[in-house]
Amino acid sequence: MKLNNNKILITGATSGIGKALTEKLCKLDNQVIAVGRNMEMLDTLAKSDNRIITFQCDLSSETEINHLVSFIKQNHSDLNILINNAAIQYNCRFDEATYSAEKIENEININLIAPIKLSFYLLPILRVNCNAAIVNISSALGIVPKAISSVYCGTKAAIHIYTKSLRYQLEDVKVFEVIPPLVDTEMTKGRGKNKISTKKLVDEFIKAFRNNKYEINIHKVKLLRILNRISPKIADKIMKRTTL
Ligand SMILES: NC(=O)c1ccc[n+]([C@@H]2O[C@H](COP(=O)([O-])OP(=O)(O)OC[C@H]3O[C@@H](n4cnc5c(N)ncnc54)[C@H](OP(=O)(O)O)[C@@H]3O)[C@@H](O)[C@H]2O)c1
Repeated sequence: MKLNNNKILITGATSGIGKALTEKLCKLDNQVIAVGRNMEMLDTLAKSDNRIITFQCDLSSETEINHLVSFIKQNHSDLNILINNAAIQYNCRFDEATYSAEKIENEININLIAPIKLSFYLLPILRVNCNAAIVNISSALGIVPKAISSVYCGTKAAIHIYTKSLRYQLEDVKVFEVIPPLVDTEMTKGRGKNKISTKKLVDEFIKAFRNNKYEINIHKVKLLRILNRISPKIADKIMKRTTL
């Protein structure tokens, strides 16, 4: 992949990994369309760099996804890279009183349906531009799950297989998957140990993206994938109780 002069849409650009990707890709001289719900953060991003264009969108809403797609079609037909990064994680068990069908639906809509729909709706634009790519952020928990956050693990496993299949299908758009371990962001605040920084993730991503490495295992995920091949039972045992 050529890493400059692209127009890149990043979902979940207001925090954590998405924010770090936005800042790095701008530094590499790309234009970024930063998407999120938090207007204050979107304004801060827009003020920080004139290569950042912002769009407020709640990805759990079909109507708002449609508005985002219309905005891109009307104003940014030169979009060539889509990074599906936004996600939420309800870190709870099915029998907790605060869990609900509404939360289940929300998690599936944001983590799985939104990235699939965005790719589907934006593919006609991406594929007519040079250096076209879709990047999906999954998780180590989509490979080997933990005991709680079952719906989150399920959405990430689905993203993993869906991304692989889409990669087989598309010849004119490169399809990447980033598989992070525990990263120090809002999502993991107050839990987990040995988190990597967003900078570490972004540096590994950029190197692999440049070299067209389509399945990008970040840091300890490389070891987890090897262990899961040699002994799935041991990998399951380790991850089952993780606080990731
Ligand atoms: N952190 C980790 O340890 C870890 C590990 C493996 C995988 N990942 C994956 O990495 C990606 C980024 O996670 P992160 O850790 O950077 O999380 P984060 O800091 O919590 O950021 C999540 C981003 O998603 C956006 N978002 C959430 N709900 C949204 C909605 N309904 N509509 C639009 N945007 C929404 C948020 O923006 P607004 O609040 O502005 O809407 C925010 O920018 C996710 O796909 C996550 O599953 C993270």
